[in-house]
Amino acid sequence: MSSWKHISVNPIAGALGAEVSGVHLGDLGENAFHEVRTAFVEHQVLFFRDQEITRDQHKAFARRFGTLQIHPFLQPLKDEGHPEFVVLQSDEQHPYLAEAWHSDVTFMDEPPLGSVLRCAVAPEFGGDTMWASMYAAYEALSDKMQRMLSDLVAIHNTATTFSRTGYRTDHLGGTPSREVLSAEHPVVRTHPESGRKGLFVNTTFTASIKGMKPRESLALLGFLYRHIETPDFSCRFRWRPNSIAMWDNRCTQHRVVADNRFANRRMERITINGDKPF
Ligand code: SIN
Repeated sequence: MSSWKHISVNPIAGALGAEVSGVHLGDLGENAFHEVRTAFVEHQVLFFRDQEITRDQHKAFARRFGTLQIHPFLQPLKDEGHPEFVVLQSDEQHPYLAEAWHSDVTFMDEPPLGSVLRCAVAPEFGGDTMWASMYAAYEALSDKMQRMLSDLVAIHNTATTFSRTGYRTDHLGGTPSREVLSAEHPVVRTHPESGRKGLFVNTTFTASIKGMKPRESLALLGFLYRHIETPDFSCRFRWRPNSIAMWDNRCTQHRVVADNRFANRRMERITINGDKPF
């Protein structure tokens, strides 16, 4: 564990997640940024409270980690000059979008490094977000299971989400598309910075295991999805306006807790490009 001179870092759970204080992300000096970068790789998801930042500052902070992604299906703020933002808006008429465990955009050859999510409107209660550590999930498996998974490849696509007939994202600035985007990734990926291994399949975008019969693939993925949900691998964050979560998409999954369905909730997300998993 690192020690910190310019920021305070307080873990909120055993497997992942830490709250960082003593910083304003709109005005972060080099030394503090360096420590935030280190804490990010160490804790997998960081939380910041009371960050009143503009959209430009939000983008500028994320850009310090890499180039920004423009989502292939969702660009709600394009006409306002911010095509990089994904907005997750839910209320009485519109359900939560992200209520299944997932890593973002794994249907691309180079899935994101991470995302920076700011809460613009928080529910009075409920609508928390959970994250799970894919290192913890992988490390809890037996040696035999780890070895079996080690050379498997999974197919990820948008067939059951963005490209599905009737999948509604118009209130999120989505444009209907029948084009299916698809990518192949190792089932176990090695984090390019920490060198640790983690599971890299998710219920939202992983379609099947390459080379397996459909029933084998379904059974194995079903087992892994149930395993990933083990509470010991997770942390949970309660939102307030101007809270920010920044997660490492290479070693975590997340989902919204869809409990207060009538609440008005608005989150704005910037996504940072990543590299090809290995
Ligand atoms: C996301 O999946 O990017 C957002 C999750 C949330 O709305 O809490």
